[in-house]
Amino acid sequence: MIEEVVERLNMIKMPGSIGIGHTRWATHGAPEMVNAHPHVDCTGRLAVVHNGVIENFMELKEELINRGHNFTSKTDTEIIAHLIEEELKGDLRLDDAILKALRVLEGSYAIAVVSLDNPKKIYCARNESPLVLGHSELGSFCASDIPAMLPYSKNVVYLRNGEFAELDEDGLSIRLVEDGSPVSREYTEINWNIEMAEKQGYPHFMLKEIYEQPVSLRNALRLQQRYLDLLTTFLDRGQDLFLIAAGTSYYACLAASYLFSKIARLTTFPAVSSEFVEQYGSSLGIDSVVLALSQSGETYDTLQAIEYARMRAATVLGVTNTVFSSLSRRARAYISQQSGPEIGVAATKTFTSQILVLLQLALRLAITRGKISQDDGDELEAKMIQVPDFVQSVLDRHGESIGALARKYLDSRLFIFLGRGISSATAMEGRLKLLELTYVPSLAYPAGESKHGPISVVEDGVPVIFLCPRGETRKSIVGSIMEMKARGARIISVCEEGDAEIISLSDDVIEMPRNIPEALSPIPYIVPLQLFAYHFAVQKGLDPDKPRNLAKSVTVP
Ligand code: F6R
Repeated sequence: MIEEVVERLNMIKMPGSIGIGHTRWATHGAPEMVNAHPHVDCTGRLAVVHNGVIENFMELKEELINRGHNFTSKTDTEIIAHLIEEELKGDLRLDDAILKALRVLEGSYAIAVVSLDNPKKIYCARNESPLVLGHSELGSFCASDIPAMLPYSKNVVYLRNGEFAELDEDGLSIRLVEDGSPVSREYTEINWNIEMAEKQGYPHFMLKEIYEQPVSLRNALRLQQRYLDLLTTFLDRGQDLFLIAAGTSYYACLAASYLFSKIARLTTFPAVSSEFVEQYGSSLGIDSVVLALSQSGETYDTLQAIEYARMRAATVLGVTNTVFSSLSRRARAYISQQSGPEIGVAATKTFTSQILVLLQLALRLAITRGKISQDDGDELEAKMIQVPDFVQSVLDRHGESIGALARKYLDSRLFIFLGRGISSATAMEGRLKLLELTYVPSLAYPAGESKHGPISVVEDGVPVIFLCPRGETRKSIVGSIMEMKARGARIISVCEEGDAEIISLSDDVIEMPRNIPEALSPIPYIVPLQLFAYHFAVQKGLDPDKPRNLAKSVTVP
């Protein structure tokens, strides 16, 4: 707790008029003292705090080590201090040295720098990670978000990507990182109360987190290569690969099982953690690999399952959003998905990032095993990089209008979600969101299976939500739509923009950007379903952040 630190270090009584600090969400290096911010250069004269992920930190670190720099932490942040130190060896002023150092950084960052060489100033810069600046009679301030700023200043400036700022007691000035040219920006007055501010102006954490997805997905594309390589090596060595998780994370496993099959030609066994030991326990051995997914890294059932797998000498791997969670401590190797904290009980941004992480693993494995041609691999990778933009365009287009769609169906007593292939995982996750937030009974099935039973509950007016991305499964989805329509269902389709056939068969349509490969479709296609569940809950007068009977992390049997 920050209050504890303030008290223990007696910070209020510390001499001086400037300071920087950062509550770290571990991305590189465990949450230990040595990795805590600020980080300093070799001289100890310059200190940096940083929120974000520096993509090229390994190359930069090696270069700096070769030039004689000593590193004390495992963080990516520390390279920033040493880079500035290196630039200062020339004849540059401190501000110019910082600007020069920033120009070689790749990735996301919001930083604040202080130096004994100019003890009255704080220097800040941002690329992708948020940073707000403020000035009042109390002084000048910078913070990641408005809640931290509010007690000190209601007049703020949102620093934009590629901007650098200097703060002192008189105010602040902004320049472009690119060429150092000055930028003028007006202050904005913030009239939010603290609760609104914590949600950054969104009415609920869940909505904020849905809208954060373009950023969290970009961070998921910036994973440390060596850990991706390490996991790929383990996956490659294993004979049987099990993908295990609970709830939403399980649906990410389900989607991943299609990806491993289609991209890497690898059979995997997705299983819910609570069933895993019963279902597959006896077949586990030294050649088995168990890849566990858990946002929190603390889900009881998942931890039990991996304990069992370890006991049977299987290799346990992890993907988690919580570095140093029980999962990451127990896994032989793990990847931190870097989605940032998720406060809403319903998983949203962590689901889309899990899939993106597993997609990268599938692609790597395909390349390692020679299961994908160079052209196909390049094409998939090019599309993968566009995923955050696809999601952004879905949010721009449908962010508001899905509220009206939810209103239209507010009286429905049953929903059915159907998809084929990888979209059956999207359908199941879409249904879970609606179910847990609104308590409206609903079913989700692979569309082909719907005629083996579920179709019996379809009658006049029952809404059936179809996931229909363009691709191999689209043709058979048309058949399923016809079947449901013939029984009086109201069809809501999530399909590609301009897909005339699907549109003509549907009562309501959510049109998605064109040219999204089916393999990538769960990520953008789940977004309108997250929004649908959110608006449905709000319009029913329910709190989407706190669904009844549910906890963010289920740590009990
Ligand atoms: C659904 C949801 C839960 C979790 C499940 C697993 O919105 O949040 O179903 O997905 O409890 O949690 P983790 O991923 O932390 O293991």
